[in-house]
Amino acid sequence: MRENIRADYSEESNKVNKGKYYITTPIYYPSGNPHIGHCYTTVACDTIARFKRLEGYDVMFLTGTDEHGMKIEQKAKEQGVTPKEYVDPIVENFKRLWETMDISYDRYIRTTDDYHVKSVQRIFKKLYDKGYIYKGEYTGKYCTPCESFWTDSQLDENGCCPDCHRPVIDAHEEAYFLKISDFADKVEKFLTETDYLTPKSRVNEMINNFIKPGLEDLCVSRTSFTWGIPVEFDPKHVVYVWIDALSNYITALGYENDAYDDFDKYWPADLHMTAKEIVRFHSIVWIIMLMMLDLPLPKHLYGHGWINFNGQKMAKSVGNVIDPFVLAQRYGSDAVRFQILRDMPYGSDCNFSNEIMVNRINTDLANGFGNLVSRTVAMADKYFGGTLPEEREENDPDGELIEMAQSLRDKVAPLVEQAQLAKALEEIFKVIARANKYIDETEPWVLGKDGQKKARLAGVLYNLLDTIRICAGLLMAFMPKTMPKVLEQIGAPANSAGFEELGRFGVLPANVTVHKGDVLFPRIDVDKEIDELNALLTPAKTIREDEDLDRANIITIDKFAEVKLRSGEITACEKVAKSKKLLKLTVDDGRHGRQIVSGISNWYKPEDLVGRKIVFVANLAPAKLCGELSEGMILACDAGDDDVRVLFLDGDVPNGSTIR
Ligand code: MSP
Repeated sequence: MRENIRADYSEESNKVNKGKYYITTPIYYPSGNPHIGHCYTTVACDTIARFKRLEGYDVMFLTGTDEHGMKIEQKAKEQGVTPKEYVDPIVENFKRLWETMDISYDRYIRTTDDYHVKSVQRIFKKLYDKGYIYKGEYTGKYCTPCESFWTDSQLDENGCCPDCHRPVIDAHEEAYFLKISDFADKVEKFLTETDYLTPKSRVNEMINNFIKPGLEDLCVSRTSFTWGIPVEFDPKHVVYVWIDALSNYITALGYENDAYDDFDKYWPADLHMTAKEIVRFHSIVWIIMLMMLDLPLPKHLYGHGWINFNGQKMAKSVGNVIDPFVLAQRYGSDAVRFQILRDMPYGSDCNFSNEIMVNRINTDLANGFGNLVSRTVAMADKYFGGTLPEEREENDPDGELIEMAQSLRDKVAPLVEQAQLAKALEEIFKVIARANKYIDETEPWVLGKDGQKKARLAGVLYNLLDTIRICAGLLMAFMPKTMPKVLEQIGAPANSAGFEELGRFGVLPANVTVHKGDVLFPRIDVDKEIDELNALLTPAKTIREDEDLDRANIITIDKFAEVKLRSGEITACEKVAKSKKLLKLTVDDGRHGRQIVSGISNWYKPEDLVGRKIVFVANLAPAKLCGELSEGMILACDAGDDDVRVLFLDGDVPNGSTIR
């Protein structure tokens, strides 16, 4: 992956081997397509990973997908596919998004990967053998029609099932529990005595909300669904969420598996990053799990805020998601990366809106940096034919600009290290603003008119170009697509943007040659754009989600031709005795006739169907449903509000005709 997107002005051009740096995003649920809220953590981690490579670290940047669980099992069932078939195209969409956003991850883990599955089984067994996992009883709410367990907080506003909104009952289920209660003191000490969790305010939150009231043991297995990693020694249980998910940070390095062998090299993690609602699992459960396994503890966890949309967390369930593919296509991935990093204050939430995005791009990128680069390059071109003369004169106010540019790297690096990315950008843009002001102060267009002032003009332009070099070099990790273009336009040699060189002023050759190029960040017509965006991004969530899935799941016409669809007539129909949902249809298929079982009895009575012409899949592998043989499947359509309509054929079509 990284190989494709490494620029000439490589982060590693100046490698000095400062040791290893292991950084992780959370692994995302592929229960729906990725949105701009998911992008924040990944873009932030990518920026830090790139910056660390620039500094000379041997970086391991891990991301991935968390693919098990009841929700995914249910969604797959709704679509009539297996859970793996359901997640595969969504995982592809995540990967496609990360490619679009230039995410330079080094490793991608899927919790359905074989090696992870085996490692988790071993970790679970280890914890059990050590006496940290015991069998108990999980109590929760149960929706009988949906066959689903829910916690109180998942219920809808009437205390009913969040899916079908029917009443739920109290229910019990055998489950394994992780004895985290025994580790309350140890984890509290760890959180208070180290700088693991930032911002610091979250430490108090964890202690006051979860540790002080008494840590409750964590349910780590379930029997009411099957889409999970089976507990090897008790296979009716599947591992439930957190042992599976959190372990990814070590299994991806080869802990308890042979797929990789860099656990000793990269563990412990230098930085885990997550949004605030899962800080609890990363600061309490994960730390306790590692203590139980006698493993070194990670160094830092940064819990960031949410990207909100109109004051609410952007999320699929709220239906307010913004499609990052659309934004990246319209403004370029760098502009999107920049805006979300620039506007997310450290530790708190930020509000996203189309206006905020477009205005930020115009102000900082088009008018701020883009304009600085294009003006400077254009002047070097106009007054010196592109190549600065070696003779140049220094004057006021050069000192202030040079000093700001020269000290910038050492201001930015610690901010990046602390994940204070908005602050880091603020510092860089202070220098950019200073450089633009410097143009107004020095008035190069006046100097250009005066033949006596060529050396001074060369001095001014050199100072601007070298300031741009430093800013672009430091911005490379934030906007990896555009910054190489900036460096090219100002004629920066390939080795002039390494970490070392970014801490020094005067690195560009005295007779540098600029290369005028395309506009870096085109200015956006705000009103027009907002109208178009609002129309485009109005969340029509289900349709979009399906469309995206369809696009990610393209098949060839040959593949389609493998499915044999034929016309048929229902000649008899009755309910399947053992089932509430199934009807048994006798179908005249123009040949010997066949029996098809279909789950449509909620919507059709047998007498409604007899004599009707339908479409059926003729070459589906036969299956037994509630003891009845089904040789095919009739086609029906979701009609909204829990309604289903069978596809009936219009007119007198011969039975057994091919449908294509
Ligand atoms: N699968 C778990 C994480 C397991 S990590 C061992 C999960 N997945 S998630 O897909 O729901 O969320 C992944 C990350 O994206 C979380 O950090 C989550 O908070 C973050 N975000 C999802 N929506 C977000 C916003 N609107 N804003 C910022 N981050 C958001 O939780």
